[in-house]
Amino acid sequence: MDGNGRWAENRGKNRIIGHIKGADALRPVVENCPRLGIGYLTVYAFSSENWKRPPSEVCQLMGLFEEYILKETHRLNKMGVKLRFIGNRHMLPNSLQKVIAWAEKMTESNTVLGMQVALNYGARDEIVNAARKLVCWVADNQITEEDITCERFASALETTPWPDPDLFIRTGGEKRLSNYLLWQLSYTELIFLDIYWPDFTVQDLERAIETYYERERRFGGMTCLASSA
Ligand code: IPE
Ligand code: MG
Repeated sequence: MDGNGRWAENRGKNRIIGHIKGADALRPVVENCPRLGIGYLTVYAFSSENWKRPPSEVCQLMGLFEEYILKETHRLNKMGVKLRFIGNRHMLPNSLQKVIAWAEKMTESNTVLGMQVALNYGARDEIVNAARKLVCWVADNQITEEDITCERFASALETTPWPDPDLFIRTGGEKRLSNYLLWQLSYTELIFLDIYWPDFTVQDLERAIETYYERERRFGGMTCLASSA
């Protein structure tokens, strides 16, 4: 969900206004996922590198996350959304950690849509932590070195047991992954849009899905259209 800051700056507004508009843009996207056949949605809300921003913006963002989760969870729960947060939550403000735990608990048995929010998330950290877990499992004799396969490695990642994404959308014009789901995106179809996140609509999502279905997914093998994958 990139481009909130520039969206606001282009209008001579404070960047936090862009983040508020960004949160507003997420609402209809989530609401329409079940209708569009999307079973899992992951959004990048705050990267482990975003702490480099001015303290005032970081502080406002933390406040906004807390407010958003507090305000939206009941509605998401009614929709049948199961909320999960990935990333290092222990570095987040205590009050935000509590709200996250509350939201996860409230929605834990929902099955309509799995929604993951990457908050203080960095894919390299996630991969290093997975390697540490595997080392511990081997040291505890729970598994042997030979048991370490791609599937086993993936089971140590934070996203387990949810599937790898089929489609990735980045708004804001940058064409890079910025430490996002590096393992899980190996065979994902990538779409980069020049629009800023607050301008992203359900129609843009529908268009992206159409583009996805036109892509040929081969997974290193032979012809396989996304529509038949
Ligand atoms: C994305 O918008 C939201 C967060 C990273 C919190 P940005 O804040 O990165 O917006 P730009 O890229 O500066 O426009
Ligand atoms: Mg940005």
